[in-house]
Amino acid sequence: MSKKILVVAGDGIGPEIVAEAMKVLQALQADGSIAISVEEGLIGGAAYDAAGDPLPAETLAAAKASDAVLLGAVGGPKWEPLHISKRPEKGLLGLRAGLGLFANLRPAILYPQLADASTLKPEVVSGLDIMIVRELTGGIYFGQPRGIETLPSGERKGVNTLVYTESEVERICRVAYEIAMKRGKKVCSVDKANVLECTEMWREVAIKTAADYPEIALSHLYVDNAAMQLVRAPKQFDVMVTTNMFGDILSDCAAMLTGSIGMLPSASLNADGQGMYEPIHGSAPDIAGRGVANPLATILSVAMMLRYSLDAPGAAERIEKAVSQVLDQGLRTADIMSAGMRQVGTVEMGDAVVAALNEH
Ligand code: IPM
Ligand code: MG
Repeated sequence: MSKKILVVAGDGIGPEIVAEAMKVLQALQADGSIAISVEEGLIGGAAYDAAGDPLPAETLAAAKASDAVLLGAVGGPKWEPLHISKRPEKGLLGLRAGLGLFANLRPAILYPQLADASTLKPEVVSGLDIMIVRELTGGIYFGQPRGIETLPSGERKGVNTLVYTESEVERICRVAYEIAMKRGKKVCSVDKANVLECTEMWREVAIKTAADYPEIALSHLYVDNAAMQLVRAPKQFDVMVTTNMFGDILSDCAAMLTGSIGMLPSASLNADGQGMYEPIHGSAPDIAGRGVANPLATILSVAMMLRYSLDAPGAAERIEKAVSQVLDQGLRTADIMSAGMRQVGTVEMGDAVVAALNEH
């Protein structure tokens, strides 16, 4: 049966990188590997400009009616002056919340061909394969009360609230443990239990839930130490599970271990297996429209979509192999360029992946 995909390219480099990912999907469609129907929608600043709303009701409705959503990126300086409720990021957060996408999977894998592109020594990062499982619909991103109020003195007060219920912690821990069972069976839960009661509870729930997974080796780190360990000895990690905000920060850090944030895909899943797939990098307004952005994170996000929402693991593997092959061929976008390689633009990189795909 044909699967429905909603494509929301968004802002900045979003449309450029999504166009390359779509070429890959179309190539798979053309050779009969998958059967999909594609609809396009507006999100972020582009949606605000067209409809006055970073998440138009039609986009959310179309997303709910889809098997999967492919997203480019949102945001840019143009929309920064807007009230926070109208900013492009609200579109992304609204889709996450609206679809109940509580489980965000952010793999940080170092392609051996890119060992020199990392700012860390090759021996520290070679062979790196970490899965960060970030809670995505709770925590300080969504907690109430929130906002900025003016006190009687005239001074302003800014408030955000870190809040988790036990069931929210339990379900994200289960996702992490299930994934770890298919990998190295090691999970590190990251919290700030020495200071924040909410994450003290997080740790307790993580331990209690792990009782159902006796084979899992569960460890705990405070987030400050986790950040340090990620750059000191990242290969000690298999799966990491953490809160919304800690996961946001640690996944950018982990991305750099792999050479470039331009390489990392992500999947955000709800309880029904419906998912949204996006590169973990942002809209990169500084390079938007110049045809130099790295489309590989978005192309690899398509692979995750095929694996987690479209039940096409074979096609996912073909994409991953094709990406590895173009790296073997020495093709590099500017962000992963190193001596002796051939620098290519966004479109040429996408074309090369499609060509490699057609060989397998
Ligand atoms: C991410 C991004 C988003 C986040 C922004 C764009 C709202 O940084 O997906 O990591 O903070 O979650
Ligand atoms: Mg982030």
